[in-house]
Amino acid sequence: MNSPSVLLGVAGGIAAYKSAELLRRLTETGHSVRVLPTASALEFVGAATFEALSGKPVHTGVFADVPSVPHVKLGQEADLVVVAPATADLMARAASGRADDLLTASLLTARCPVLFAPAMHTEMWEHPATRANVALLRSRGVVVMEPASGRLTGKDTGPGRLPDPAEIAEVARLLLERADALPQDLAGRRVVVSAGGTREALDPVRFLGNRSSGRQGYALARVAAQRCAAVTLVAAHTADLGDPAAVDVVRVGSALEMRDAMRAAGKGADAVVMAAAVADFRPVAAAGHKIKKDGSEPAPLALALNPDILAELVAAREPGQVVVGFAAETGDSSGGPLHHGRAKLARKGCDLLVVNAVGDGQAFEVADNAGWLLGADGSETELAIGSKALLASRVWDAVASRLA
Ligand code: C5P
Repeated sequence: MNSPSVLLGVAGGIAAYKSAELLRRLTETGHSVRVLPTASALEFVGAATFEALSGKPVHTGVFADVPSVPHVKLGQEADLVVVAPATADLMARAASGRADDLLTASLLTARCPVLFAPAMHTEMWEHPATRANVALLRSRGVVVMEPASGRLTGKDTGPGRLPDPAEIAEVARLLLERADALPQDLAGRRVVVSAGGTREALDPVRFLGNRSSGRQGYALARVAAQRCAAVTLVAAHTADLGDPAAVDVVRVGSALEMRDAMRAAGKGADAVVMAAAVADFRPVAAAGHKIKKDGSEPAPLALALNPDILAELVAAREPGQVVVGFAAETGDSSGGPLHHGRAKLARKGCDLLVVNAVGDGQAFEVADNAGWLLGADGSETELAIGSKALLASRVWDAVASRLA
């Protein structure tokens, strides 16, 4: 397959410096990227940076290289347009259909998915003019990401920060995999997702843990937030993952902490997804001090059973609430992963169960995932191999249709 052709628009905000990292991520993962900065973006980052990183010429206006008609062709030939950062001014120009530079002209000729990653001060993001422009762009099918919250230029904080370049790259990949992956069908919904692996303390320095990276749960939270849900992510131990933009993150350590956090956040939620790898057992008692070796044989480890949080959430399910579980399965002499998944769905009583085949480098600590989505109504959908964000978008499709 040819490398996907991506147009990277860069508007004139201080976050323009982060577009160089996004560009690097896109080119390193095999995309052919042409950068279209606005004239003000070049006040922040020089054209040479974009030319060196993309290997392609950089122009802002429509009068460069006129014989090749770039203001029409670039948009027509793109597989994806990403604008990061998208400033309030760029979104206003795009919403009103202006074509006064190469980027806005290309936005009018593009028929591929278009992704805007906004960055601006909170006041600008919340201004009715910007809200109206965002709503208009979204109604036309543009994916306008929810910005992150945090430190803005200067000392102030609030929503309006550019989402992390890794997160923008993940959403960009998702739109190339599936153009319709991010409808706004979770607007007005509140969802809770657990992620990562719990750690059960043996003493102040040791624990029983597992290999979960948290990537699938983070992708679920990220995709739900970008489908406009209010999202709480209950995160146990994970790989070094940045907080997803526009998501409320609650950190926990042990299974018992996760149970408390899930039960609290799950009250009144429209959907609850248990993607975390919860330890089934915990040491009966954690030593208050580091257990010392003294040359003698250690005492056998006494373990207690942890509560099954998913089963408790099912038992406490409120009318209309959708509860989703995950099952990592390997085949054995009694059947394959799907067979075990069906039995688990019946046992756990959840509405949906994602079954992942694990082992042989599948599912754990890798970027891609595949499996089946089983419904309590007997439905069974194969989830073809793709990014964890793609799998997340399929799960939210099923949740959204049950909530509707
Ligand atoms: O039974 P098993 O551990 O395979 O079930 C996996 C599902 O149950 C996952 O959704 C996981 O988050 C959840 N689980 C739980 N509490 C446990 C163990 C697993 O909620 N103690």
